[in-house]
Amino acid sequence: MKVIAVLSQKGGSGKSTISINIARSLQLRGYNVALIDTDPQASAREWNALSNEDFFPVYGCDKGISEKEIKHLEKVADFLLIDGAPRIEKSMTDAIRLADYILIPLKPSQFDIWACKDSIELVQTRMQIDDKLKSGLVLSQVNKKTNLAKEVIQFIQENFEIPLLQHSTGSRISYAEVLSSGGTVFESQSKEAKEEINQITNEILKELGVENV
Ligand SMILES: Nc1ncnc2c1ncn2[C@@H]1O[C@H](COP(=O)(O)OP(=O)(O)O)[C@@H](O)[C@H]1O
Ligand SMILES: [Mg+2]
Repeated sequence: MKVIAVLSQKGGSGKSTISINIARSLQLRGYNVALIDTDPQASAREWNALSNEDFFPVYGCDKGISEKEIKHLEKVADFLLIDGAPRIEKSMTDAIRLADYILIPLKPSQFDIWACKDSIELVQTRMQIDDKLKSGLVLSQVNKKTNLAKEVIQFIQENFEIPLLQHSTGSRISYAEVLSSGGTVFESQSKEAKEEINQITNEILKELGVENV
């Protein structure tokens, strides 16, 4: 089982949106997928409760991730997505320890970079002792009509060791709409959003050395 943790202490950066959609992208490729929601606000659990379709199991976990749960999931899942909490707390350090790949979403604004600096530094520190751990920053909710992202991209490349993914999510109403109706972008009409999530997933699989199917 490969563990992909989507983390950042900044609320609203797109963790739940990205983890649910990547989980669905992997599921549609034929993988067995599970998702652990570590946020006490429980967005992924709410989404799962709304969903009519049986996509993939969503487990709640507010006080650290239990070893027992992981042992069980290892037997049944090819991929485990961890949807991170907006705080540096036990579930975040557990996720960092368990992860094969850590994805840090951030909105293209300097405020958001400052707000997730501690998460980035925690991941960088872990990478120094775990040389198999892979990670990436992904821009989320990019307004493709403005140049704002360019400055942010340059800042990230100059200041962080974690690589920036080539693909990002655009600011698209379809992301919000589908989640609030219990679906994912793969059930929406938005070809662009599907393409974005598939490309982000491809980049992660490549880093993990998993053959793309
Ligand atoms: N690419 C996107 N385009 C438009 N809205 C988005 C996008 N990604 C997330 N959102 C919206 O932004 C808000 C925060 O996203 P969410 O995934 O809940 O962030 P987090 O889990 O990091 O708190 C939600 O209302 C969500 O619907
Ligand atoms: Mg969330």
